[in-house]
Amino acid sequence: MKVLILGIDGYIGFPLALRLIDNGIDVYGADNFYTRKRVMEVKSKSAIRINSMNERISKLNNRIKFYRGDVSNSKFVYDLIRDIKPDAVVHLAEQRSAPYSMISLKTANETLEKNIKSTMNIIYAVKDLKIDTHIVKLGSMGEYGTPNIDIPEGFFNVDYNNRNDYMVFPRMGQSWYHLSKVFDTYNLILANKIWDLNVSDVMQGVVYGSRTKEINKYGLFTRFDIDEVYGTVLNRFVAESVMGDPLTVYGEGNQKRTFLSLEDSIYCLNLILNNPPDHEYKVYNQFDEYYSLNYLAGRVKEYADEILDKNVKIGHLEDPRVESGNHYYNPVNENLKKIGYRRQRSLDEELPLMLRDLNSNKNRLLSLRNVIRPKTLWK
Ligand SMILES: NC(=O)c1ccc[n+]([C@@H]2O[C@H](COP(=O)([O-])OP(=O)(O)OC[C@H]3O[C@@H](n4cnc5c(N)ncnc54)[C@H](O)[C@@H]3O)[C@@H](O)[C@H]2O)c1
Repeated sequence: MKVLILGIDGYIGFPLALRLIDNGIDVYGADNFYTRKRVMEVKSKSAIRINSMNERISKLNNRIKFYRGDVSNSKFVYDLIRDIKPDAVVHLAEQRSAPYSMISLKTANETLEKNIKSTMNIIYAVKDLKIDTHIVKLGSMGEYGTPNIDIPEGFFNVDYNNRNDYMVFPRMGQSWYHLSKVFDTYNLILANKIWDLNVSDVMQGVVYGSRTKEINKYGLFTRFDIDEVYGTVLNRFVAESVMGDPLTVYGEGNQKRTFLSLEDSIYCLNLILNNPPDHEYKVYNQFDEYYSLNYLAGRVKEYADEILDKNVKIGHLEDPRVESGNHYYNPVNENLKKIGYRRQRSLDEELPLMLRDLNSNKNRLLSLRNVIRPKTLWK
């Protein structure tokens, strides 16, 4: 099997590549180092030291065939897919920061344009080249927002004025980033409807963690962002606890979100690759559990106090985002379980690993201290 990973240099892309290599798959990858550059622009860097792409490839004995280029460039994507003819394309190569998309009109448009174009480029390349490629697209659980009803997997039955239909579940994403993903979702639904493309649309929760079994095996780390623009919440809490700073819970902390460990994210993507749809559009709500921010802060404090002998404080900052502080939340994740998903690594297993990894990068973390508190405001 040949798999093309777009965004192979990223947090998820690189460990996915390691897993696929070990599974005997021919791994092709593309990236334009967009995240490395943008993270540098906010004066940050990966909190765990990572190798360059060239170093990664040479340490892996050239088992990744790498192409440098921009996935929002249609010719680059068309030529890549024409030359490789992959069985599957995993599309991770998007601007992936909600805060970045909220900085200004420029960053909002950059996010919308690049993300929507990149997915369209893949759709058209696969359709025009008439190849039976499985498109695995990374969306976000944040596309749904926080509706006051249960969140199904993509679609639901609607009864309205004595009629009913099976319809796309409303998407109420709360940033331009999330809305770019919503647009991708609709574009993929239409592409499947008119051209029968094979699509797995992955609504992923927030990913946390620093290790997968292949990261252990090869000793090659993946990036780990903790700054206010690119860091995700749990990774940031762990970093703060190691630095001895109060955890920055936004608002009251009763916001609930879906989460999964990096190990589980890679496991799920592998399952999805092994279960291609038969010219269907399939949706996977890809998460393990949902937690409130207060619950997560409490767990991080518990582990950091015990493992690193700290007395971590939990602080509450004014919420820089516009989001409900208290809300109903009940999403389902049945489709992955149907193809064999069982939790691989729990929060309790991952937290000690993350704490130890970050503690051994403590000086590097301390140099990032002033890029953590939120400066990007939604209003
Ligand atoms: N990490 C999470 O918690 C999370 C949660 C939900 C969804 N996702 C989605 O999963 C995907 C991967 O996320 P990640 O955390 O690995 O992010 P990441 O930023 O670490 O990885 C994305 C990679 O794609 C590359 N890239 C971005 N735009 C590109 C372009 N136009 N051309 C070529 N390469 C480009 C970046 O340089 C980077 O290496 C993203 O689409 C993201 O929105 C991530």
